[in-house]
Amino acid sequence: MAPAPALEPNVSLRSYNTFGLDVKARWFARFASVKELRELLNRPEVQAADKLVLGGGSNLLFTQDYEGVVLKNEIRGLEILSQNEDTALVRAGAGESWHGLVQYSLDQDLSGIENLSLIPGTVGAAPLQNIGAYGAELKDTFEQLEALEISTGQLRTFSATECGFGYRESVFKGPLKNQFIVTSVVLRLHRQARPNVSYGAIQTTLEDLGVAGEPTPRHISEAVMHIRRSKLPDPAQVGNAGSFFKNPEVSQPKYDTLKAQYPDLPGYPVPGGVKVPAAWLIEQCGWKGQRRGQHGVHDKQALVLVNHGGAQGQDIRDLAHDIIASVREKFGIELHPEVNIL
Ligand code: EPU
Repeated sequence: MAPAPALEPNVSLRSYNTFGLDVKARWFARFASVKELRELLNRPEVQAADKLVLGGGSNLLFTQDYEGVVLKNEIRGLEILSQNEDTALVRAGAGESWHGLVQYSLDQDLSGIENLSLIPGTVGAAPLQNIGAYGAELKDTFEQLEALEISTGQLRTFSATECGFGYRESVFKGPLKNQFIVTSVVLRLHRQARPNVSYGAIQTTLEDLGVAGEPTPRHISEAVMHIRRSKLPDPAQVGNAGSFFKNPEVSQPKYDTLKAQYPDLPGYPVPGGVKVPAAWLIEQCGWKGQRRGQHGVHDKQALVLVNHGGAQGQDIRDLAHDIIASVREKFGIELHPEVNIL
């Protein structure tokens, strides 16, 4: 019989969060199967403590040591469950890397998630905030997921509707927060390529890369990787968690007023109003490329806060608060963090 998963005390989380913050977990354990997860959840120390499930740690800002149990999801597995003429159902273990799943889908000649290439993090974390980039969102290909209910140890299946996906939102960040642990995700991918070049820079990047005619999913993946590498810092080199804030939505009248004052203000219509790029607002407040000691605002994308090495989580949180205050003062718009601050 396999040994029960170990529960280690006082473990540094430095290599488990993409900001590279050197905080400690009171307890730390890994699980590679639903069985191991259940064994861990049955232990009295784990039952009594707060629990944090960690995937790639790419959407987290630790401002202090974590006094509970960190459970690292390492459930693996990539497989095609079934296919028909048009689509294939692909299941991925929650602990697989998201980009690994994108590469797997390209290797299987399946399309649908190539626009989401190179997003850091794991498959299990993807539905929590309905990851999105370059004209696509997880929900576009999502079929269902399986998650374990912490209080009962039972597995439950959630359809897309039951996940309540929104812009960087799901029920797992809202009403069901901290109640379920995602164990696997099933996507419905297309067997015929469906190139999505709606995001302007993809088309121009394809041209720069010398791709003429209809791009393949692999071409699109390459273009997206090219764009990401040119704008977003690689967490392996510079600590960051991608976009730190969500793009705010304002009412049409509010947008019109601001547009009269700031004619360059970009905006994208959404139901009920206009979405404004937080990066533009932050840049206008003079933050882009600013550095405070070991942390600051990325010089190529103002939405990304960075740890140049040795920064503390509280410093980054304070910087975020100052950015929120200056955007509020200049534009009367409230920014909300996209990362989970602990
Ligand atoms: N802009 C600036 N200054 C900057 C960067 C951007 O003014 O430094 C303005 C420009 O007007 C630009 C607009 O903001 O046209 C939008 O910029 P970009 O296309 O880079 O995207 P974003 O809205 O800043 C969102 C996602 C990213 C995703 C990109 C591409 C959010 C919070 N962020 O950023 O997601 O990669 O679109 O689709 O929605 C992430 O979630 O971690 C993430 C990186």
